[in-house]
Amino acid sequence: MSIASEIEKRRTFGIISHPDAGKTTLTEKLLLFGGAIQSAGAVKNNKIKKTATSDFMEIEKQRGISVATSVMAFHYSGKQINILDTPGHKDFAEDTFRTLTAVDSVILVVDVANGVEAQTERLMEVCRMRNTPVIIFINKLDRDGKESFDLLDELESKLNIRVRPLTWPIGMGDRFKGVYNLYRENLNLFQGNKTGISDEIVPIQDLSDPQLDELVGEEPAAELREEVEMIEGVYDPFNQDEYLAGELAPVFFGSAMNNFGVQELLDTFCEISPAPRGRETDLRKIEPTDSKFSGFVFKIHANLDPKHRDRIAFLRIVSGKFERNTFYKHVRLDKKMKFPNPTSFMAQDKSVIDEAYPGDVIGLYDSGNFKIGDTLNEGENFMFKGIPSFSPEMFMELENQDPMKSKQLDKGIRQLMDEGVAQLFIQQPGNRKIVGTVGQLQFEVINYRLEHEYGAKCRFVPKNFFKACWITTDNEEQLEEFKRAKTRYIAKDKEDNLVFLAETQFLLTMAEQDYPDITFHKTSEFKLEQV
Ligand code: G4P
Repeated sequence: MSIASEIEKRRTFGIISHPDAGKTTLTEKLLLFGGAIQSAGAVKNNKIKKTATSDFMEIEKQRGISVATSVMAFHYSGKQINILDTPGHKDFAEDTFRTLTAVDSVILVVDVANGVEAQTERLMEVCRMRNTPVIIFINKLDRDGKESFDLLDELESKLNIRVRPLTWPIGMGDRFKGVYNLYRENLNLFQGNKTGISDEIVPIQDLSDPQLDELVGEEPAAELREEVEMIEGVYDPFNQDEYLAGELAPVFFGSAMNNFGVQELLDTFCEISPAPRGRETDLRKIEPTDSKFSGFVFKIHANLDPKHRDRIAFLRIVSGKFERNTFYKHVRLDKKMKFPNPTSFMAQDKSVIDEAYPGDVIGLYDSGNFKIGDTLNEGENFMFKGIPSFSPEMFMELENQDPMKSKQLDKGIRQLMDEGVAQLFIQQPGNRKIVGTVGQLQFEVINYRLEHEYGAKCRFVPKNFFKACWITTDNEEQLEEFKRAKTRYIAKDKEDNLVFLAETQFLLTMAEQDYPDITFHKTSEFKLEQV
């Protein structure tokens, strides 16, 4: 098969949601359709339990298990589908943000009762930043929830995207009868069915068909007719180009737990979602069809066994064909490397592969050569852009507790930062290390891993910062003045970029007002805008 047809076959996406909306359940049902798993529960058991916030060892263990489910590939309807898992736990949000750089589209799961939640908004902001196409799945229609039209309005206003329903629910909760597929003009009748994949689908091209009344009852049928008329009146017909540009999100309704409405979602996904897309580098845009191989590392998974400090680097292939045992260039290190055991993640089994294509994610065993964001290619000097760091929300100063082990501490903290566990900011004088994370959990993880993997002991002292903002300006004079006035709040990130550590929103706003020529960025993505 030619590279072009390999590319065309692939669909690489992520499922995102606020915790508990049903991401894991939906993932599992999609895998059932793809024949990648045989029974419900297989994915669920790997899920990071929400109750375990303080029991991070348990979480780490589960993260270990979840390597196999970090990427789940299966075949369906002539396509090779790669689902990239995104941790739902909010303390791993950074991990999710980075994974979103490796997908070509996303499915967003929203709980019908809760609507748009905090994590939904943040994740969508990241998608909107890179115009990632989004399909929305409103879940748990077997329960009572918000009124469908209200929910659509809420999606539009809170997520800053236009929506277009492609299926429409008939009732909800106890009165839930099924969904009408506006896109394919058929009716899917609801029956609770947690494991199988059989739905009863009746073609109804014309909603005035009396069969509709027989199937769902007169009142619900009348309601459906009225609502569909409203939809057709209010919303423009679905436009695939707008979806692909990340401007319009098609909406589906269903119940993942009951495996209902999932097939409509998957079938439409296969039809409309984008094939692997190109990525920007600091030199030029690389298209998947470029003949030479290139890819980037978006995730690094540490081995949990402290005796084996090897790690798995997850590489997203952007262009060309990757081949086993072939020398490629690690651009940052300017070093040639080959990989005897690259793994793929088909159907939950890790297996060694000989070749891989754009859209694929492969695992490379690594003994410490890779950092998140690294580029691998056939020899050219370009680096992929846009693996952003986001401003952390919790800050602590790292203090060495064992002066005899300061080398181990330095090495350990550097490697953990390469894996993206947290962000490190260095403050002068004294090279003080400020560690920033999105959740308390990471501090426990760092503490534990430094001690068990590197034999170093540390202590964290809370810092009262609220945000880290990357600062840029053309006005050198103003920058110098700012640095003088804010010495205590200036730090550098791992790439020596200047960062302002703001203590409160008020102080940040004041700084923005007082130094109008300085731009305060909430993510390191500004580097993408600069080149
Ligand atoms: P997440 O990955 O987004 O965090 O959500 P997850 O799939 O774990 O689902 C969260 C809870 O919502 C689970 O219940 C799950 O069974 C339930 N759920 C998912 N889809 C539906 C649905 O369509 N209808 C209803 N009624 N519930 C749904 P749990 O009690 O937390 O876990 P479990 O004991 O059921 O495993």
